[in-house]
Amino acid sequence: MKGIVFREFADMVEQTFSAEILNRIIDASNLATRGAYTAVGTYDHREIVELVNRLSSETGVGIPDLLRAFGRYLFKRFVALYPHFFASAKSAFDFLPQVHNIIHVEVKKLYPDAELPQFETSAPEPDRFVMVYRSTRPFGDLAEGLILGCIEHFGEKISLAREDLPCQNGAHIRFTLIRQK
Ligand code: HEM
Repeated sequence: MKGIVFREFADMVEQTFSAEILNRIIDASNLATRGAYTAVGTYDHREIVELVNRLSSETGVGIPDLLRAFGRYLFKRFVALYPHFFASAKSAFDFLPQVHNIIHVEVKKLYPDAELPQFETSAPEPDRFVMVYRSTRPFGDLAEGLILGCIEHFGEKISLAREDLPCQNGAHIRFTLIRQK
């Protein structure tokens, strides 16, 4: 996983909890990096899984809630860091197909070692949008948080439902977004 994700995670922990808690979870985790991440480096994604586990024990907040909160935070940070990706889309339904077709493609060009998930999107009805997430890594809750962050960003009234689909390793999830009238 790219260092930028680790750096943003560390900033979120510091802002939401404290610098002391951040240091404590890094010390308590058995990390090859000892928590030193550069934005362009690439690190084992299991390090973030371990940090989230430790943060959960330290704070009493459940792992899915922490990952969803991180996804919402990360979406805001992506808007600030890469404004050009957000310039043309006017709604979540416009923007979300671009994640797989354009944005993650650009991320992969920039960082060939990036590990990105697969998304299939469809709009079976004008007010319904379906996004199926598939990854060999366990980041479905992070994906959910990013989608929630996207809905908040566009300020729309959209409900989000999630259905975990059978899969052998990693995650396979169908997210359904319904625009409220
Ligand atoms: C709602 C929109 C988005 C969703 C649902 C989404 C989903 C994800 C997920 C779940 C991952 C973790 C990897 C995995 O699951 O296997 C990921 C990685 C990543 N995404 Fe996205 N993403 C979104 C938008 C964006 C945007 C707007 C950007 C940048 C402008 C971006 C850049 C990245 C980067 C840099 C990584 C890390 C790749 C790595 O660690 O190697 N994503 N994305």
